Amino acid sequence: MDKKRMYSAAQPTGKITIGNYIGAISNWVKLQHEYDCFFAIADMHAITIKQDPQELRRRTLELAALYIACGLDPEVCALYVQSNVSAHAELAWVLNTLTYVGEMERMTQFKDKSRKHADNINMGLMDYPVLMAADILLYQAEYVPVGFDQKQHVEITRDIANRFNNRYGETFTVPTPLIMKSGAKIMSLQEPDKKMSKSDENINAWVSLLDDRDTIIRKFKRAVTDSDNCIRAGEDKPGITNLLTIYSVFRGCTVEEAEKEFAGKGYGDFKLAVGETVADALAPIQAEQARLLADKAYLNGVLASGAERAFKAARKTLSKVYRKVGFYRGE
Ligand code: TRP
Repeated sequence: MDKKRMYSAAQPTGKITIGNYIGAISNWVKLQHEYDCFFAIADMHAITIKQDPQELRRRTLELAALYIACGLDPEVCALYVQSNVSAHAELAWVLNTLTYVGEMERMTQFKDKSRKHADNINMGLMDYPVLMAADILLYQAEYVPVGFDQKQHVEITRDIANRFNNRYGETFTVPTPLIMKSGAKIMSLQEPDKKMSKSDENINAWVSLLDDRDTIIRKFKRAVTDSDNCIRAGEDKPGITNLLTIYSVFRGCTVEEAEKEFAGKGYGDFKLAVGETVADALAPIQAEQARLLADKAYLNGVLASGAERAFKAARKTLSKVYRKVGFYRGE
């Protein structure tokens, strides 16, 4: 039986938090054998915010190494760099003509980023969701695992796909966002009613996949909680709930099991246990990433063959699209 196609991507913008790991990468690793997977490093999306070119290049390679270190098998899934496959930009152009300025202006992330980078509200920033739609639709992906913050972008992708199909005839698979239930949303350690974000100015609010052991333990020790000293999950206890979620994911147990394990214990012991568990889980990933980064020839080979696989799949869709919209191809 043919496997269903799955597509996802992440930007190489610096630090990857444990929130990204739980919400995205660890799920990709689990799903890679079940689906026919394409995973991209979205460098074209990254430049919608000012980037240092050297840094961007370095981070792209670091992210590729990190993915593999986390367990993505490049023999199983196609792992590639978005800008290495020109079809993304080409399809985005066509999709632009089916997307309305008004709906892009209303996108939550566009509004947030416009506020944050008021001196650089560029066309690319506004067009970001259309490029993302091109990413997904090029591969005829049925499923798109994403964090909750990207759900709106997958929904607009569905609208654009339907619009194209209605105007030009059945062409694109309409994708479904796959929002993971547990841990889809890991919260800030300092303000647990806010999402954990690597752009948070308070570095104690988030844990990077590459933080060292002491840093990780210190950040969990400082995590903001309530004061009733009872370790249970609940809407009235966002801080403890967040820690229980993080613990259960890295420990490989359920939140209920974690609650039982810590019944009667104090917050201090609990926070230390969460920190140690996360540090223990990340150590082998960090070591493997360092080993891979020392073998650039291997990484270059992986990305080249990933791009080739992606190109083959993308080219098929793009030629179909060009034919449907009436581009002359030398009949
Ligand atoms: N915008 C996504 C993010 O920042 C990354 C991304 C780019 C993506 N293209 C995609 C995710 C296609 C899923 C599918 O997280």
